[in-house]
Amino acid sequence: MARMVIAVSGTPGTGKSIFARALAKKLGAKVIDLNALIEKKKIYRLDVDGTKIVNLPKMREEFVRAVRASRGPAVVEGLLAHLLPKRYLTHVVVLRTRPRILERRLRARKYSKTKTRENVEAEALDIILWEAVQIHGINRVYEIDATRLKPGATVKLFLDALAYKK
Ligand SMILES: Nc1ncnc2c1ncn2[C@@H]1O[C@H](COP(=O)(O)OP(=O)(O)O)[C@@H](O)[C@H]1O
Ligand SMILES: [Mg+2]
Repeated sequence: MARMVIAVSGTPGTGKSIFARALAKKLGAKVIDLNALIEKKKIYRLDVDGTKIVNLPKMREEFVRAVRASRGPAVVEGLLAHLLPKRYLTHVVVLRTRPRILERRLRARKYSKTKTRENVEAEALDIILWEAVQIHGINRVYEIDATRLKPGATVKLFLDALAYKK
């Protein structure tokens, strides 16, 4: 079987980091934290309001390097994970949260009103899901509404989907 490289994407606050860790544990996979990679390699600039603008070609390059340098299954997580090159990913998970719940979470994380609204709107408009399907095709994209699920249950849902049980 080909090596599994699973991207986990979603709007901030949808539970990517928690899900990725739980999934990797189940699969005995390595986690590639895209945010950490972007920080470490300093492949971003800051715009006027402090938002990170990531250099996407460099991000893809560094990701490919990281994948090639490792063996076995990998889980790569971050809100840009669905923008990674198609030929290096076997599955793309897009985590979803109902906008009203997401709004609460982002406020609890001390996001500004503007940032919270932007993210809640992006979630309501299915932006990441739409981008993921455009790039990877519907057969490789797994949308999971994790609003009411515990991380373990979300992982189980995905593994069941992989096994064609769902
Ligand atoms: N399925 C879930 N149900 C309830 N709370 C969750 C769930 N997944 C994540 N959370 C909470 O939401 C917040 C964001 O989770 P995190 O994994 O950091 O999201 P992301 O990496 O997508 O920004 C955390 O406070 C986490 O405890
Ligand atoms: Mg995270």
